[in-house]
Amino acid sequence: MSDAPAFGAPARRLFQLEDGAVYLNHGSYGATPKLVTAAQRRWQDRLEAEPSRFMEREFRPGLRVAAERLSVHLGVPGRSIAMVENATQAVNAILRSLTLKRGDEILITDQTYNAVKNTVRWVASRSGAKVTEIQLPFPAYADDSILRAFSAGLTDRTRVAIIDHVTSPTALVLPVAAMVAAAKQAGAAALVDGAHAPGMLPIDLPAIGADWYTGNCHKWLFAPKGCAFLWAADAVREALHPTVISHGYGQGFVAEFDWVGTRDASPQLALPDALAFLERLGVDRVRQHNHNLAVESGRRLAEAWGTEVGAPPGLTGSMITVRLPDGLGTTQAQGLEMRRRLLDERRIQVPINALAGGLWARVSAQVYNHAAEIDALAEAVLVEQRNAA
Ligand SMILES: Cc1ncc(COP(=O)(O)O)c(C=O)c1O
Repeated sequence: MSDAPAFGAPARRLFQLEDGAVYLNHGSYGATPKLVTAAQRRWQDRLEAEPSRFMEREFRPGLRVAAERLSVHLGVPGRSIAMVENATQAVNAILRSLTLKRGDEILITDQTYNAVKNTVRWVASRSGAKVTEIQLPFPAYADDSILRAFSAGLTDRTRVAIIDHVTSPTALVLPVAAMVAAAKQAGAAALVDGAHAPGMLPIDLPAIGADWYTGNCHKWLFAPKGCAFLWAADAVREALHPTVISHGYGQGFVAEFDWVGTRDASPQLALPDALAFLERLGVDRVRQHNHNLAVESGRRLAEAWGTEVGAPPGLTGSMITVRLPDGLGTTQAQGLEMRRRLLDERRIQVPINALAGGLWARVSAQVYNHAAEIDALAEAVLVEQRNAA
């Protein structure tokens, strides 16, 4: 689009990010554009101007508009989508709606998000179900090795398999459709945790074929924090309930999820503005920029550090993991300490995780990022390495 803003340093003025810092962690919590925060505040002002009218008449239709707008990007009807606050809430609703029994199995991976793992553990401890955790290959070189590792964990007792669309610690874009098909073939239901996928990847829900899919809109879709969706296939929708049961109980999926008690739903109500912002930048243009910058970042960092990236371009979205050079530690505590120093001493925000016997940086690439920031990270880590020697 010819009037769309340029990416890189000039795009930073569209966001509220503080000056002088290098922000390479869009993936964890997103960063909301100024225009979208303004829209969210307008919703809050409307609420407080006449709270009763807003809560009783205006807010649920607003949520439905958000779900309808989003549904166009997902290839499913709006009525099959619930707006929730985050992916953790959605996963809780799904898993806590299941009736599991002793001997049933829940399949997760070593890279399943920790909050999701905890939910699985809790659900399993109450039902006597067994948690099976398989190890995904990392660094990952091909999607067939991922599919093989995953399929090896499926048994005829697997009731539900949890599949990440994009893994959190390693930023791998998993072959979700093939993994869902494998789960289904084994007789298991498939829950796709797409926390990072909306905005980062095209999502064709019918083609993925899962039973449930959740995605955060507050990461790569530019919505304010507290905006996510939960989609459920026709066959499983009736049995699905929010974790908080309220007035809508028994009145169907939409009624149950739209009202979970009095709350400020402005992050979800502002979703159409976030989508409009993304559309103005160009959905494909953003995705392409971010993907190219992620791949380029991996190349630059791995070259500067003499190390490797966690995944090839085919398994990469808008984030990439890169192994830090030797001598900087191998434990999660050392990774956290390195992250703290980069932030406190150099104002570089980047997560560092202990994986595969080393420390890895997970670099997010968003429209406001550019190569000079990557070079600043490369140099800062090399200084750390020299200091540690
Ligand atoms: C794979 C995955 N699942 C779930 C979540 C949880 O997201 P939220 O904190 O918004 O619930 C994250 C967050 O980064 C994630 O990466």
